[in-house]
Amino acid sequence: MSETFKVGIIGVGGVSNSHYKGYTAAGAEVVAIADINPAALERRQREWRVPRSYTSAEELVLDPEVQAVSICLPNAFHHPATLAAAAAGKHVLCEKPISLSIQQGEEMIAACRQAGVVLQIGHHLRSNSAAAFAKQLIATGELGRVAFIRLRQAHDWGGERMVRDSFGKLANSGGGTLLDNGCHMMDLARYFGGDVAEVYARVATLGFAVEVEDTSLVSLTFASGALGSVENAWTATGWEEGFWLYGTEGALEYTNRYGEPVLRHIFRSSPGTSWGEPDLATYRFAGHSAQQRSVAAFLAAIRGEQAVVCSGEDGLEAVRLVMAGYDSARHRRPVSLRLAATEVL
Ligand SMILES: NC(=O)c1ccc[n+]([C@@H]2O[C@H](COP(=O)([O-])OP(=O)(O)OC[C@H]3O[C@@H](n4cnc5c(N)ncnc54)[C@H](O)[C@@H]3O)[C@@H](O)[C@H]2O)c1
Repeated sequence: MSETFKVGIIGVGGVSNSHYKGYTAAGAEVVAIADINPAALERRQREWRVPRSYTSAEELVLDPEVQAVSICLPNAFHHPATLAAAAAGKHVLCEKPISLSIQQGEEMIAACRQAGVVLQIGHHLRSNSAAAFAKQLIATGELGRVAFIRLRQAHDWGGERMVRDSFGKLANSGGGTLLDNGCHMMDLARYFGGDVAEVYARVATLGFAVEVEDTSLVSLTFASGALGSVENAWTATGWEEGFWLYGTEGALEYTNRYGEPVLRHIFRSSPGTSWGEPDLATYRFAGHSAQQRSVAAFLAAIRGEQAVVCSGEDGLEAVRLVMAGYDSARHRRPVSLRLAATEVL
């Protein structure tokens, strides 16, 4: 790309700053931003030194200089904003979850395909160096047959007593922690373990006065026969993210809970390892954050240098698993993905 690639960011709240950092780290220029909130717009325009601002996605996508957009709006607005961007011929990096219904997600995928633009969904954990390395270890057979996958993402809104309406009100968010955090974990589950055949979920609202669940647990049965567990919560203390992969020949453990995250590879190769003391290798990963690497991957996909790291179809499968989770929790029974529901709300 000889000329600087120019992008717009739609929605300038919490997550947008990671996109901004990702674009600037990758050498792209944010030339326009949009937000319905004039104060937020003004603050970000000053902070990021962005030349133009708009009060709607529909206006921003018509900016002739903008070549691609990040959609960082509340979940309910991902669908209309993506359709508007595709109609204007702009590449789309849309935050997760892709949509609140299968039909909306399919429309977003079809619109981007017809317009010939890249659609990437912001499941940035695929771009986490430890996750990418773990996937390689699975692919090369280091773990043997994968038997159990545990995934956890949980927090407590930084100790706040209230949850923003973007997340706490059902009409804006479409769901609670199972959707908000769980869709990341469902994507990671598929990334590590392939297709999921069945889910069995329980949800609860225990810590916040919200319309949605703040604690959830989903058991997975993968098509491979492996089992999985997806844990999400806004009732943790602090910020917690991790994956634990158990195979017949080795295990991988990764958590941010105890200082600098490291990937631990536990296996048996040396003679004389004991019951409680197998071999252990630890890996540390330097460089850009997963969010920044995800934005860089989006730009590389636009340049045709690599496949889209997390496609619209991947995003939609994550939503399908979350919906199956809600269906399961509501009816207190396991749900086969063949029979899964098609609406979150
Ligand atoms: N990938 C991740 O790890 C990650 C992390 C946080 C949030 N997210 C996702 O990013 C999205 C945004 O989350 P957030 O935490 O930044 O939320 P936020 O509430 O902090 O920001 C949303 C922004 O959108 C603006 N907005 C709302 N409706 C609008 C509209 N119709 N038109 C224009 N602007 C509008 C709001 O004024 C606000 O500034 C959500 O879909 C969320 O799920 C992803």
